[in-house]
Amino acid sequence: MRILVTDGMDKGALAVLRELGHDVVEQFYEPDELGKALQDFDAVVVRSKTKVRANHIDEACKGKLKLIIRGGVGVDNIDVKYAESKGITVKNTPKASSQSVAELALGLMFSCARFIGHSGYTMRNDQWEKKAYSKGIELQGKTLGIIGFGRIGQHLGKMAKAIGMDVIAFDIFKVPTISDELGIPYVELDDLLKKSDFISVHAPAVDGGAIINAETIAKMKDGVNIINTSRGTNLDEAALLAALESGKVHAAGLDVFSVEPPTCKELYNHPMVSCTPHIGAQTAEAQKRIGAEIVDIISNFK
Ligand SMILES: NC(=O)c1ccc[n+]([C@@H]2O[C@H](COP(=O)([O-])OP(=O)(O)OC[C@H]3O[C@@H](n4cnc5c(N)ncnc54)[C@H](O)[C@@H]3O)[C@@H](O)[C@H]2O)c1
Repeated sequence: MRILVTDGMDKGALAVLRELGHDVVEQFYEPDELGKALQDFDAVVVRSKTKVRANHIDEACKGKLKLIIRGGVGVDNIDVKYAESKGITVKNTPKASSQSVAELALGLMFSCARFIGHSGYTMRNDQWEKKAYSKGIELQGKTLGIIGFGRIGQHLGKMAKAIGMDVIAFDIFKVPTISDELGIPYVELDDLLKKSDFISVHAPAVDGGAIINAETIAKMKDGVNIINTSRGTNLDEAALLAALESGKVHAAGLDVFSVEPPTCKELYNHPMVSCTPHIGAQTAEAQKRIGAEIVDIISNFK
């Protein structure tokens, strides 16, 4: 196969693809050049930077493109239904990065509890704000509410239990066996909002507005901590900022934003917000697993 890799890929997996005889080209294309470029390839591998939209697919259909692979979980950067309607298969690598994202969510929880992000930043400005950061809390004994109890949510739930948190979960699709095996009960959303000291969102980008908005925040405990490593649109950034200002929300940890790079400067500059630039899946281990899954997809593609 002639394969275009636009946003980078694990070097070992690239070598395997070439050893298998595939012609692999690593090259990023700007949106106005992508469609035409795709005509010359059987498959394209993207991460999140490249967006494959209907106009690119229309152009690509004039050539030989048969397969689009998203190295990662969410496929919101690809017009999947449109591609499939044109006979192009779309695949992703859903399992490869779950532990990495869950670990980042846990890290952001620790950062909310102990101001790790912002206190480090103040020290870089030669400040020693010991008093300002002396009101930390422990995670042990606190309640974590997980919204979206799929792969990442379950990984996080297991780790949170291991450090002594009480974990509850809400999912629109409840699988009783998972809940029983992990000893993590499902609750209704309102119940989760009411009981949780930490709320971490792990649902895909949902239609019909943000899950975390002014209305759901109002139902939360005072002093709640909110983590979002799912998709930026799942959280109303203006509502979160207002709730941080009022003290309703103690702190937030954000890896994803409604627009990336983010424009909500007041939010990502807020002293009680720890942020990372959408790096949930960016670990050496996840990249290797993503690479291996991509090799499998290509090897099994007929
Ligand atoms: N930060 C990152 O770099 C990064 C990396 C990978 C994935 N993600 C995001 O994390 C999300 C979750 O990934 P996953 O692998 O756990 O997916 P998954 O499909 O295994 O789990 C998602 C769960 O959310 C549930 N759900 C869907 N809509 C919901 C709603 N409105 N309310 C409550 N639950 C709902 C589903 O039933 C499912 O159980 C992805 O869709 C992606 O957007 C982010």
